Amino acid sequence: MITLESIRKPVEQDLQAFDEFVARNIKAEGALLSDMLQYALSSRGKGIRPTVVMLAAALNAPGGTSGGQRSCLAAMLVEMIHVASLIHDDVIDESDTRRGKPSVNARWQSHRAVLLGDYILAKNLAVGMSSGQFDLVTHVCNAMATLCEGEALQSDCMSKHTMTRRDYLDIIYKKTACLIAVSASAGALSVGAPREKVSLMHRFGEAVGMAFQIQDDILDYTRTAHTGKPTNNDLREGKITLPLLVVLERVDDRRRKELLDLLARCAGDEAAVETLQQVVEREGGLSFAAEVMQDYLKRAVHMLSEFEPSEARTALVNLCAYIAERDR
Ligand code: FPP
Ligand code: MG
Repeated sequence: MITLESIRKPVEQDLQAFDEFVARNIKAEGALLSDMLQYALSSRGKGIRPTVVMLAAALNAPGGTSGGQRSCLAAMLVEMIHVASLIHDDVIDESDTRRGKPSVNARWQSHRAVLLGDYILAKNLAVGMSSGQFDLVTHVCNAMATLCEGEALQSDCMSKHTMTRRDYLDIIYKKTACLIAVSASAGALSVGAPREKVSLMHRFGEAVGMAFQIQDDILDYTRTAHTGKPTNNDLREGKITLPLLVVLERVDDRRRKELLDLLARCAGDEAAVETLQQVVEREGGLSFAAEVMQDYLKRAVHMLSEFEPSEARTALVNLCAYIAERDR
């Protein structure tokens, strides 16, 4: 079993420097914002994005060492966008928990959570702009609009109760893969990699990000997952993700209508959730989604063969295996 600790190992010191960089640069004025910010930053997740930034930097740096403050800035820019987007996402989804703890909106109410998300984004941009590293800021900040587009498309599909494969792939690219793609390319950019390598790293991060979100969608159905969230949350929220989507694609119109009616009842009917979960499992939705995920990971690993062997390359190959194995 590959651990995240082993993946982080080659860039352990850079990640430590990144934590210190965030603590130095993202501070709040006033008791309320300080408390909320401290809470949000101390309950951060796995740190996949900063790890990808630092490994991409190490992979592309001439001597295999990452780019110091410039890589820290790149990592901070992506990670703070991620943190803010999850704070806003929990408001949108009316979610009470995040990683097994009360969400910011559950603890301080939604209007304050929106403010905290905005505050983090504003501070993030201010630090980026005052650093004068406009190439990194421009590269990373475009992803903020893409995240919003993904969330809007998802919301539109949910309210219309329709979802095509194209919509699904577009949503997961925009809400997840784009920021991981930008993490990988910004890492390369932070050490002055040539344009083709920055673009290769973007494609690598995109494939990793697509796989990461598909695994997230599979884990939502898996009872034994330690995701820190209730199982089958997507069904309760009326979200059609790949495991259910492939089942809907395969059945006839009458059965599809039955399943969509069942999904519409999932918000307040646990028996409907249970039944739909079993249908998805029995009809092979989870195993098909796992195959699609593996396909993205194979493509990601293949892209790394463009680089000479190194500790960073091995760690990124291991990251691909970790994504498929992870249970949280
Ligand atoms: C989690 O999805 C949500 C995202 C990955 C993106 C959310 C984006 C926004 C709210 C747009 C705002 C953007 C910025 C930059 C502030 P999920 O609900 O499927 O996953 P979950 O189970 O972790 O909540
Ligand atoms: Mg959510």
